[in-house]
Amino acid sequence: MSVDVAVVGCGIIGAAVAWRLSQLGLTVVCLDPAPGDGATYAAAGMLADVTEAEFGEDHLTALNVASARAWPGFAAELSLASGMDLAFRRTGTLTVAYDSGDRQQLRRLLELRRGLGLPIEEITVDDARGLEPLLGPRIAAATWTPDEHQTDPRRVHAALLSVLADRGVAVAHRRVAELSLTPSGTVDGVVDDHGTRHRTGSVVLAAGWASRELARALPGLGGAPTRPVKGQVLRLDASGQPGFSLGRVVRGFVQARPVYLVPRPDGEVVVGATSEEQPDDRRVTAGGTFAILRDARALIPGIDELPLTELTARARPGSPDNLPLIGDSGIPGLLLATGHYRNGILLAPLTASALAARYGAGTVPEWAAAADPRRFAATVTGGPT
Ligand code: GLY
Repeated sequence: MSVDVAVVGCGIIGAAVAWRLSQLGLTVVCLDPAPGDGATYAAAGMLADVTEAEFGEDHLTALNVASARAWPGFAAELSLASGMDLAFRRTGTLTVAYDSGDRQQLRRLLELRRGLGLPIEEITVDDARGLEPLLGPRIAAATWTPDEHQTDPRRVHAALLSVLADRGVAVAHRRVAELSLTPSGTVDGVVDDHGTRHRTGSVVLAAGWASRELARALPGLGGAPTRPVKGQVLRLDASGQPGFSLGRVVRGFVQARPVYLVPRPDGEVVVGATSEEQPDDRRVTAGGTFAILRDARALIPGIDELPLTELTARARPGSPDNLPLIGDSGIPGLLLATGHYRNGILLAPLTASALAARYGAGTVPEWAAAADPRRFAATVTGGPT
């Protein structure tokens, strides 16, 4: 059976895109051997448009801010449509510095973020302790970002799968082996790992870091230069621990190393993350676990008492400029929604809106211009992975 669109990859990006396209009345199939088991599975769910704003990344910050604004509406609509609780809430983010070098780093970022007009304030260490009494004894400085939200990516993904099922979107548990091309060079579907050809009007490649491998076989495509950036995260369980209470996201720098703790309403505390230029081998290492716990307990020593419930390693889909690739690929019939690196959960609503606009109105909105995949066309012809 021919459908309008095949979405390759059914993590949070592919699933959100499929949902929005199905709302346009398009028939959609999503292909993924293990939907939601990639970067979505590891993600902590910080919607950190302010506290991930970095030097030289103004375009990315603008996208992040726009998607953070879209999140409350997206979450409300998805929660209503699915009947599921996404653990979406506005807790704000407290960011702390451990030593004097970290204080300098925090102040540099504070100036950057203020200069961009982002809502962030410097607060005293005493005020930081007022917000989070479990902060450790050695804190040198703090900033407070009251407006940042958080959610539980696994719940969001489950809700997306539920609404896709309700809308008749097929989710095929198949790996896509190749994109299929007409003799004139138009992408007209995909071939899965069982050799089955799925003929579609067009294809949206949303396969995270693996997008590169599928795209590189296409002649004339500038590329989908994604790469795996491995992250290890831990999950702790603070439920039933009356002495441990964390009310908001706590981030910090500990001797120049970033670390974060994300407390959820059900008592889960996600602690991360390593950032390694490594393949997606899914191996949790002793060193990675040690480093995360060492730095997290420097900020919140009370985590020592919590049961350690999960160790997870997955790769983020990195891109050369840390911006995602959203929109037309330059090959007829092929669109991209990939390369979201550290911001896949945050950018899901915006990415899905951009693709919906492309299919509905015929163009990707101007605000997504910086993420145009064709920016790599002149420079990337494939190369070592
Ligand atoms: N956005 C958090 C991370 O990628 O670790």
